[in-house]
Amino acid sequence: MKIWKISEIINWAANLLTSKDIENPKLDSEYIISHVLGMSRLELYLHQEDKVAENDLSLIQSMISRRGKNEPLQYILGETDFYGLTFKVNEHVLIPRPETELLVEKIIKENPTAEEILEIGTGSGAIVIALAANIKNAKFMAVDISNEALQIARENAVKNMVNINFCFSDVFENVTGKYDLIVSNPPYISGNEYQYLSREIREYEPSIALLANDNGLAFYKKILHFAKDYLTEKGKIYFEIGHSLSESIKKVAEENGFRYIETVKDLNSYDRMMVIEV
Ligand SMILES: C[S@@+](CC[C@H](N)C(=O)[O-])C[C@H]1O[C@@H](n2cnc3c(N)ncnc32)[C@H](O)[C@@H]1O
Repeated sequence: MKIWKISEIINWAANLLTSKDIENPKLDSEYIISHVLGMSRLELYLHQEDKVAENDLSLIQSMISRRGKNEPLQYILGETDFYGLTFKVNEHVLIPRPETELLVEKIIKENPTAEEILEIGTGSGAIVIALAANIKNAKFMAVDISNEALQIARENAVKNMVNINFCFSDVFENVTGKYDLIVSNPPYISGNEYQYLSREIREYEPSIALLANDNGLAFYKKILHFAKDYLTEKGKIYFEIGHSLSESIKKVAEENGFRYIETVKDLNSYDRMMVIEV
């Protein structure tokens, strides 16, 4: 059997991913190889003449082959970074997106003394765990309708050493108590938009985390319809929003007696966050 050097396996992997039209073939190859070998990407180059052990080689080959079939890198590595923390991810949870870090940053900046915070649709737990790591005196509850996602979120809370009360719930169904903040990045992709998402997303990320009826508005409507029962007197809602939905969500908020505060754009100048107040 051929013995491979690190430089050779990098070239093999990058060529294979290039032939499969993967967007960043060299970079993804380096991430996978450095993950398996327990080296930084720089170390790969410092050790490029080193030989790769047989078991590492077969693991690298199987991970590269998964990437060649469009599986997201984060699922293959089993983890991703979000807001300076590391989160376990798998096919049961949406991969936390960089846009969502802006929502977390804004909430932390504007609510350093919030006491009770609820997240609806927590997935990997990325939002609520990043908040808990930064808003020290608050209590946190986070819900999801996926037990598999809640399992991952619980592991992520332990990994990042924060205390969160995770609970299975269809939106507010099992929620009790009053909260200063309700935070949600709910599913907001309409059936029509879904078909235009990349294969990577459609074939691997959970559709339950993405799809929403009523042209993407269903969860915003449901949350806004019941939220007053769960908010304190000066309570606020922070939403991540689908970029075409801001006017409709604003209207639903006002119809439900909320005061619209602002819509904030992401780094690509798309409407991405909305703040609403009791
Ligand atoms: C867009 S993902 C957001 C995940 C995570 N908060 C983030 O920002 O990366 C939406 C989440 O809502 C959950 N979800 C879908 N329907 C739900 C429902 N009826 N009640 C509660 N959670 C729901 C999904 O399982 C998924 O984890």
